Amino acid sequence: MPRRYLTTPIYYVNDRPHIGHLYTTVVADALARFHRFLGEDVRFLTGTDEHGQKIEKVARAEGTTPQAVADRNAPTFQRLWKRFEVGNDDFIRTTEARHRRGVEALIARLDAAGDLYVASHEGWYCVGCEAFYPEKDLLDGRCPTHGTAAEWQKEENVFFRLSRYADRLLSLYEKGVDGRPFVYPETRLNEVRSFVASGLKDLSVSRTSIQWGIPFPSRPGHVVYVWLDALTNYLTALGFGSGDEGLVARYWPSGDGRGDVRAVHLVGKDILRFHAVYWPAFLMSAGVPVPSQVVSHGWWLRDQMKMSKSVGNVVRPDDLVESFGVDALRWHLLAEMAFGQDASFSDESFLARYNADLANGLGNTLSRVVRMAADAFGGKTPSERCDDNEVMRAAAKAASDWRRAFESYRLQEAADAIRALVTAIDGYLTAREPWKLVKAEGATPALHRIHHNALEGLRVAAVLLWPIAPAASAEVLRRIGCAAPEAGPREGDLEWGRIPLGAPLVPAPPLFPRADAKAYFAAHDAHKETPVTDQPKPGATPDGVAPSAPSAPSAQSANSPAGAAPAAPAAGVPAAAAAAAPPSAPSETPSTSPSAPAATSAEGGARITIEEFFRTDLRVAEVIAAEKVERSKKLMKLRVRIGEEERTLVAGIATAYSPEQLVGRKVVVVANLAPARLMGIESNGMVLAASLPGTGEPSLLAVDPSVPSGTKVK
Ligand code: MSP
Repeated sequence: MPRRYLTTPIYYVNDRPHIGHLYTTVVADALARFHRFLGEDVRFLTGTDEHGQKIEKVARAEGTTPQAVADRNAPTFQRLWKRFEVGNDDFIRTTEARHRRGVEALIARLDAAGDLYVASHEGWYCVGCEAFYPEKDLLDGRCPTHGTAAEWQKEENVFFRLSRYADRLLSLYEKGVDGRPFVYPETRLNEVRSFVASGLKDLSVSRTSIQWGIPFPSRPGHVVYVWLDALTNYLTALGFGSGDEGLVARYWPSGDGRGDVRAVHLVGKDILRFHAVYWPAFLMSAGVPVPSQVVSHGWWLRDQMKMSKSVGNVVRPDDLVESFGVDALRWHLLAEMAFGQDASFSDESFLARYNADLANGLGNTLSRVVRMAADAFGGKTPSERCDDNEVMRAAAKAASDWRRAFESYRLQEAADAIRALVTAIDGYLTAREPWKLVKAEGATPALHRIHHNALEGLRVAAVLLWPIAPAASAEVLRRIGCAAPEAGPREGDLEWGRIPLGAPLVPAPPLFPRADAKAYFAAHDAHKETPVTDQPKPGATPDGVAPSAPSAPSAQSANSPAGAAPAAPAAGVPAAAAAAAPPSAPSETPSTSPSAPAATSAEGGARITIEEFFRTDLRVAEVIAAEKVERSKKLMKLRVRIGEEERTLVAGIATAYSPEQLVGRKVVVVANLAPARLMGIESNGMVLAASLPGTGEPSLLAVDPSVPSGTKVK
């Protein structure tokens, strides 16, 4: 029987889980379910990464121990995975004794291979990545992933002779493992290949500047570098180094192609290098076969930035789950992101997809079909079957598209296949009009067959839904009179005609009640006054606005066009309000930072370069809706269209314009500004307006109405 070992990264415990962590875990869970569905022997591992400088820093800031931070946060991951029906077989924590033993065993092998030596070392370190960066890879001295300032660190370290493995790594990328590329998708394989081809330096694998880690064997004062520690979890969780390596033998590839055993690491693209370069090199050195594949997905973005704690733009799953349930979020994550690419997360797109796919799509079709069949056949499923019809063919096509999609990690296409089947069922019913037939002729055999097809199509859709949204899958099956197997459906359940004849149907309220987006945002915002950044907000007003700017990240200050707006809007302050509100403002008007350079006014401030100016993405936008913000004199909430995209932003222009004057008008917006929240509304951009002398009254920049929305302004 094929054996599959699937892993997620182990997550740092300096944070609670957010949508990004959830995505990887749900993808891994869906894949594990898919393989179980095929009847394969699956082991699915996740866990937490509890050592390193990041955790040590948090503990120091809190005046507690790193272990206490880990003990507090690891269960938040465990609880969330449980809530999301994640069926992991094991959860490893790197502070466990079984892990430490395994790391020591691996290091003993690296040492025995002659691959460890001590040397002194200095360089730029990003604590967010827990990695050194060559200076050329930093952007203005900042980490390219986190945007945070890198720290210069100097110490004596144990080094691993990574450079020795360049040729073997290149050959691994060339040949792949058991006929499959070692890294998926191919673009990522190319990135890794050129990284290695451009030359590998030896890697520092111990730290002396921190204490929180596994003590480095035979090196007093050194702890094991957190990535060597963390990567080894994939083996230590199988018992590597414990004396009982039964699980290693069962789930780790033998390296000689014996047995159909595949170990697949699922990772975000941020940590691909660690998994596709360092990890196989460590294993080669230790004489352990490499895993079968490293599969890398893209990032969930918020306003073009990777969602991460360091950036402070994370979305937590809590609110959405509270309102729409676990399956709606699982569905959204898998259906919305084209696997491998980045995707933007927004509540608006979540609600749109929820209504389209789940409320109007699957949920509505289910209610319709169950109600009609129950009315026609006394609350039971039909008692005639039909083995030649278009729903059957649509179901077969959906199943094969779905399978192909899962096999190549294109989970969004697996969701598409389910949606297509539901649409086919709807179309079939519209064409056959069973509601007319029942009135004209009663419950004829033909009517039985039509409903059989619709219900059976839904049953297949529910089976296909299982890896993506397991609870909804079981509920659809229950409502159409099928028992949902405890361990989930299996491949044989795709066979056409398995719905029991004459079994009780269960009419019930909508599975996914339609969401009222307006009501959701109103209720949601009433409870959520926090700015979308994690920046501190000293002396924040009741509006959640920081009256003085904390040190704004460089990208943000670059977003203030000279002469049009106060310098560097404070993080957490809606840029639109900052652009247009009068200077002598009451509480809802942000003041500019006292420490921000008074350099951006037209009256003699320092000049900026053209490159600096071009970091500001100015676009023509069309106002498609406008309403005054309640309890605010100056703020106007605008819905604008920028090319294909729609956004909400808040502008301090309500004293000068009415909503009627704004709708249909073209304005200029700063499109790449970090989001900010004011009066509970998230503002995604800044409208440009002149601030009139004397009164400070805003006057919008005029745009010729013939200029299409989305046009770049420069
Ligand atoms: N502890 C390391 C991993 C060690 S694995 C041996 C680590 N942890 S992390 O908490 O930062 O989580 C990283 C992983 O979380 C990413 O690789 C990705 O799988 C997921 N994500 C975190 N933020 C993400 C997004 N914004 N978007 C998508 N996934 C992201 O790195």
